[in-house]
Amino acid sequence: MNTRIDRIYELTRKASEVIYKVLHRTPLDYSTSFSRMTGCHVYLKLENMQKTGSFKSRGAYFKIHSHLDEARKMGVVAASSGNHSQGVAFASSMLGVKSTIVMPETTPIYKINATRSYGADVVLYGNVYDDAYRKALEIAEASKAMLVHPFNDEEVIAGQGTVGLEIASQLPDVDAVIVPIGGGGLISGIGVALKKLKPSVKVIGVEPAAAPKYYESRKAGKITSIFPSPSLADGVLAKSVGDITYEVMSQVVDDVVVVNEDSIARAIYLLMERAKMIVEGAGALPLAAMLEGLIANTGKKVALVISGGNIDLTTLYRVVIRGLANAGRVAMVKLTVPDAPGQLYRALGILYRNKCNVIEIKHDRFKPDLPVGYAIVDVVFEAPSKEDVDKVIEELRQAGFRVN
Ligand SMILES: Cc1ncc(COP(=O)(O)O)c(C=O)c1O
Repeated sequence: MNTRIDRIYELTRKASEVIYKVLHRTPLDYSTSFSRMTGCHVYLKLENMQKTGSFKSRGAYFKIHSHLDEARKMGVVAASSGNHSQGVAFASSMLGVKSTIVMPETTPIYKINATRSYGADVVLYGNVYDDAYRKALEIAEASKAMLVHPFNDEEVIAGQGTVGLEIASQLPDVDAVIVPIGGGGLISGIGVALKKLKPSVKVIGVEPAAAPKYYESRKAGKITSIFPSPSLADGVLAKSVGDITYEVMSQVVDDVVVVNEDSIARAIYLLMERAKMIVEGAGALPLAAMLEGLIANTGKKVALVISGGNIDLTTLYRVVIRGLANAGRVAMVKLTVPDAPGQLYRALGILYRNKCNVIEIKHDRFKPDLPVGYAIVDVVFEAPSKEDVDKVIEELRQAGFRVN
């Protein structure tokens, strides 16, 4: 008998008896567009629609609920700059528990505000997650508050595992599940639940190339630390997986793949355009992997765990503009125009006659490397189609403007 896996499964069953007082059973929606694009039957498990905008509230709620007397007496503490902080803050306030969340001083203000709005005391400390985590340990030691780890904890893993139980009941003949990996709590929980209920299910993890901690660990046959680079998938930029999650993953994860930033951006964009879903980078990893050809054209029933939707609007704006540019519907051009009355008007007339709409424009006549008598104009514009963009550029050149 495998004691840890059995224990986590039992705990997952228990979690499913308590979490729905407060949390949602999220939808598992069939996606016609993504099924057509990948040659599989693609279903989206919409954890972006969970309370707090990610699955994290499941593990946090179950953990705190499992130690309620202690938590009510001493409070709880956690370190995170992301979804875990909101999950712990929300679960605590639902359960009448005082929570203290330590966040790095570099945390974006909207995340700090979101965590405070769920009722937590926020302590800002250090530059990176590790500093905040050490501070959280110190607070836990001094105040005897319970530390809620973001992933390396059997009860947290079990709480996340309720996603797996839901998938099994919503789609009993599921063939494969694709899950993002940060520290490995989510995929461990889902893997345990699904492998118990349907051992033939393939459980596949996805990481960004910016932080391939489990990919490298699996290759090396031991836990391997990495230095994460910045990524759109900022929710999964841990340095390493945990010892508990590593042990569980080695038993329930069939494969792990890595995707690059362009794929992640495209997946976020397509989820918005086709599925009308706002999804953060980490949550878009499974679709990015599918669009890169994972399990392509097999006709299999695949559930993609869309793990969260907490993306800030400036990042979203950049992704949308890039996506539109790739689709040829937005163009960015640099024009060199004579610095004389009417020249800019003439250039913009070409855009206007081709039904293009200017989104952004910047006019600069003081660049040191610019020939005297010329100005640089950076224009971002929307065009009806890629062909129209090409036509506009051609007409601008014919009119004597230099276009880059
Ligand atoms: C949106 C999102 N997806 C996936 C993950 C990865 O979860 P885990 O650390 O349990 O692997 C995280 C982690 O915070 C997350 O915020």
